[in-house]
Amino acid sequence: MKQISTENSILHENTASKSYHFKQMTFNRMKLTVSILILFLAVQFTRADDGHGLWLRGKSTASVNVVCAKKSPTLDLAVKELKQGWQGKNGATFVLTVKVDKAIKFDGFKLSPKGIQANNEYGVLYGVYELLRRQATGETIKDEVCNPSYEHRVLNHWDNMDGSIERGYAGHSIFWRRGADAFVTTEKDKALWQEYARADASVGINGAVLNNVNSNPNMLKAETLKRVKDIADVLRPYGVKVFISAKFSSPSAMGGLKSSDPLNPEVIKWWQDKAKEIYSMIPDFGGFLVKANSEGQAGPQDYGRTHADGANVMADAVKPYGGIVMWRAFVYTTSNEDRAKQAYNEFLPLDGKFHDNVIIQVKNGPIDFQPREPFSPLFGAMKKTSIMPEVQVTQEYLGHSVDLVFLAPMWEEFLKSDTYQEGKGSTTARCTDGSIFPQKHTAIAGVSNVGLDVNWCGHLFAQSNWYAYGRLAWNNQMTSEKIADEWLKLAFEPTSTGKSVSTQEWTTNFLKPIKQMMLDSREAAVNYMMPVGFHHIMSSNEHYGPGPWWAPARTRKDWTPPYFHQADSLGVGFNRTTTGSNAVSQYHEPVASMFNDVNTCPEIYLLWFHHLPWNYKMKSGRTLWDEICIHYNTGLHQVQQFQKTWDGVQPYVDAERFGNVKERLVLQLDAAHLWNDGCVLYFQKFSKMPVPAGIEPPVGKLDDIINNDLKRPMPWAKR
Ligand code: GCU
Repeated sequence: MKQISTENSILHENTASKSYHFKQMTFNRMKLTVSILILFLAVQFTRADDGHGLWLRGKSTASVNVVCAKKSPTLDLAVKELKQGWQGKNGATFVLTVKVDKAIKFDGFKLSPKGIQANNEYGVLYGVYELLRRQATGETIKDEVCNPSYEHRVLNHWDNMDGSIERGYAGHSIFWRRGADAFVTTEKDKALWQEYARADASVGINGAVLNNVNSNPNMLKAETLKRVKDIADVLRPYGVKVFISAKFSSPSAMGGLKSSDPLNPEVIKWWQDKAKEIYSMIPDFGGFLVKANSEGQAGPQDYGRTHADGANVMADAVKPYGGIVMWRAFVYTTSNEDRAKQAYNEFLPLDGKFHDNVIIQVKNGPIDFQPREPFSPLFGAMKKTSIMPEVQVTQEYLGHSVDLVFLAPMWEEFLKSDTYQEGKGSTTARCTDGSIFPQKHTAIAGVSNVGLDVNWCGHLFAQSNWYAYGRLAWNNQMTSEKIADEWLKLAFEPTSTGKSVSTQEWTTNFLKPIKQMMLDSREAAVNYMMPVGFHHIMSSNEHYGPGPWWAPARTRKDWTPPYFHQADSLGVGFNRTTTGSNAVSQYHEPVASMFNDVNTCPEIYLLWFHHLPWNYKMKSGRTLWDEICIHYNTGLHQVQQFQKTWDGVQPYVDAERFGNVKERLVLQLDAAHLWNDGCVLYFQKFSKMPVPAGIEPPVGKLDDIINNDLKRPMPWAKR
């Protein structure tokens, strides 16, 4: 294709391809319909699988004699799972023991080829799942102590009481629904909750926050608590404790008090009474999660109090029962201060002021779950306060349930980030898991991607993110490669199509290419969405697709992409160095200096920290502008490659699951095209530089793309 050099020529050249995206999408959808038809026919010949079974498919190939001296609902489950899934020696004897051992931490366990020992029955159950996983994936089983990295490994469900899910892309809530029978717990509900709990337990997740952080005060009403109790009763045998997102203003919003001032004696008593009521129904209730003074939610600052004042009152109320409060640090106001700096500025002065059953929940990055962010400077900085990471399993900014993006590499990158707060090796993982600071409690949270869709997560590969979150919460040193390997072996075992395939053939033709695709998928998403440190340049339309142009008058600046990319004729990027907002100063040395100096700042974070001229010379020798274009184009090609890779494994996947992924890869490519075209054309308005030779020039007209941005239907809404 002819190379284009100026904005005018782009407009001219592309007149013919006006509405290109929409034609292209229609064509793609036609292609999709044909392929779905072919797949439908193929279903007649290949075994179908709706994906509901997740990674829990192992069937026993031999019998086992399980010895367990005690009986309890949890131990009974452990025995049942062993018998159902045993793939070891036929007729072997396996012993399950509950006995305290100092080497075992929390609900960890001692594994051996002959049995499992744990401090409590939950540890035994986790040990059983570990053993079965190893048998199914062919990993060695030797004498070993397996301890979890965190005491609380929690999934945060952003489920609303009407059944909708904030940032959920896999159907309605499994816990809540609208209607007259909203609080009637049916056998069907219970069966689903049990399956959910089993999936959580199989990867060691031991907590579930049942409702949205933007909480409804009615969550704390007696009738709602009754349903929470019903859920807790089903989740309990699997070791999954329930938590509630509590609205800070509940005392006044539903409790009939005049105020929710945390230091008002009536308010203090209200929280104490509420805690007593909850624990009388749910003795092992986990505690509260609170979003306060954040994005319009009420909080202690409304009464001139601090976050610590607010958190402590609620924490004191649950303390007698062993509960905790997870208090979120996701705060920013409309001030002129760089949004990336605000959480640190607000929380650091409160270090040491929180009671010991408060844990401050900090998002992995300083802004908001973007495809790539540097770690939040709060990690390691608050040394006298328990801090827990919050990551997002649901793909709000990473392609919803349309784009195939395996998130483990992103979390691994975050957990391995070195804060240097207590010298080299002070990774965010070690700063939060108790290895460095003597935290009374340790925890990690993941915003769930689970819904009522038959395969739970919408995209089949989104299941791998639920799996990966659990595995990393259990062991924050695990590699993405190991997690992908395990998940693929469990979810797509060679026999899944019903055909006989040798392990060697399956490993070469399926496991290797698909694992590589998973491992490349996050970087691909960064490439076609927000490369070189770009952030928050997505469409405001549900946060899917590009929107670097979006800045309507009277909208808060720190919600608009131009605030974050700062593109002008001279350059692009947010200057957070000492000559700019000085956000770098919130990091410990040598990290602060490394980010501050353009020569040492990792290029993956370049535009996060620096405003640079379009012709700035990158390490590759290319200009910044060329590099940006190349990243967008590379992302696009990576998705095309994923399509080829997936097509190549059709013989090894059942038709239904094959179709689920194939269908979405088509839509993902549409999205990657739109990101590429929209961003390159938009930024070219400022750079006025030609698209580098050798890459596909963008197609379409920027005006058309912009005009259609907010009208664009979300691909998942069409399913
Ligand atoms: C993001 C997200 C909101 C959510 C918020 C939070 O801003 O878009 O839906 O409420 O994060 O984490 O509280």
